[in-house]
Amino acid sequence: MKEIKTIGVLTSGGDAPGMNAAVRAVVRAGLEKGLKVYAIQRGYSGLINGDVTEMKYTSVSNIINRGGTVLHSARCLEFKEDAGVEKAKNTCLKLGLDGVVVIGGDGSFRGASDLSKKGIPCIGIPGTIDNDIACSDITIGFSTALNTAMDNIDKLRDTSQSHDRCSVVEVMGRRAGHIALNVGIACGATAIVVNEIPYNFDDVISRIRESQKLGKKHFIIVVSEGVTDVHAMAKEIESVTGIETRATVLGHIQRGGTPSVEDRVLATRMGWHAVELLSQGIGDRVIAEKAGKIIDLDIQEALKMKKTIDKEILDMANRISL
Ligand code: ADP
Ligand code: F6P
Repeated sequence: MKEIKTIGVLTSGGDAPGMNAAVRAVVRAGLEKGLKVYAIQRGYSGLINGDVTEMKYTSVSNIINRGGTVLHSARCLEFKEDAGVEKAKNTCLKLGLDGVVVIGGDGSFRGASDLSKKGIPCIGIPGTIDNDIACSDITIGFSTALNTAMDNIDKLRDTSQSHDRCSVVEVMGRRAGHIALNVGIACGATAIVVNEIPYNFDDVISRIRESQKLGKKHFIIVVSEGVTDVHAMAKEIESVTGIETRATVLGHIQRGGTPSVEDRVLATRMGWHAVELLSQGIGDRVIAEKAGKIIDLDIQEALKMKKTIDKEILDMANRISL
């Protein structure tokens, strides 16, 4: 096995709060092990173009508390083709990069596996607000995004209450309902609509009516993105129930902001573990947290795993708040 002397780190796909803490951990862990560490700009684009900077200890000072990613992120279509991966491999050989830590979601891990198979060991760290990486209980960014969504829905509650209105709120999650389920519980939503369960408009109306019978006059409906058009849904709720209804799409607000303590600690532990593996020449692995422990798995095995929402928790939420 080739001795690992120089490693790179990049962030890829949608950014997530805590990515900077992971970058910092990779840089510091690498230096601590006597490795040279390069920061790669703009995901796989920077790897293809050789857009890299050598890092020292203080290069990652004052970033642990910052949202976004100081390395910038990108969706690089070229890297999805073999020719793009080949170019990236050649850049690694030219720069003497012996391995790469990739912080991103499942698309980024597919790329990391492709590059590993070409002889450049790569380790994936799950960084996405969606918490949709099946092998890991939790992903970097999820905790902060939940708190951001919760704070904003609390604000919507104030105004909904003042006007006796219904608020339909769309939260992010791509095709996963983890954000919707958790903020729905945390905000005591009247109804939580997730991607994993077929959407039924009549169920939402029944829950609003049940809630009205209990004397409630304002209602929060949390909907995961991609399920339905929340503006159309709000109009329909208003026309069926007569309750004045407004729709809000929280959008990219959920991707920004100061990372929570959970995200900073998780990112630091995952970054450390990634460098432990890479420094031993181990690649094609993804880091995960399982039952509080940091572990690693084969990337292809990890990508085959499926994560769904816990229906018992949704059932509990439905029974506890109307
Ligand atoms: P995420 O990593 O958050 O899931 P994307 O799916 O957009 O985000 O993937 C991020 C980047 O990873 C893409 O822009 C591309 O460079 C790379 N990538 C995605 N899918 C693949 C794939 N099947 N093979 C190689 N690289 C990929
Ligand atoms: O994967 C993170 C995420 O924020 C999803 O929740 C959302 O569907 C998507 O990225 C939005 O992507 P973009 O930043 O390209 O609009």
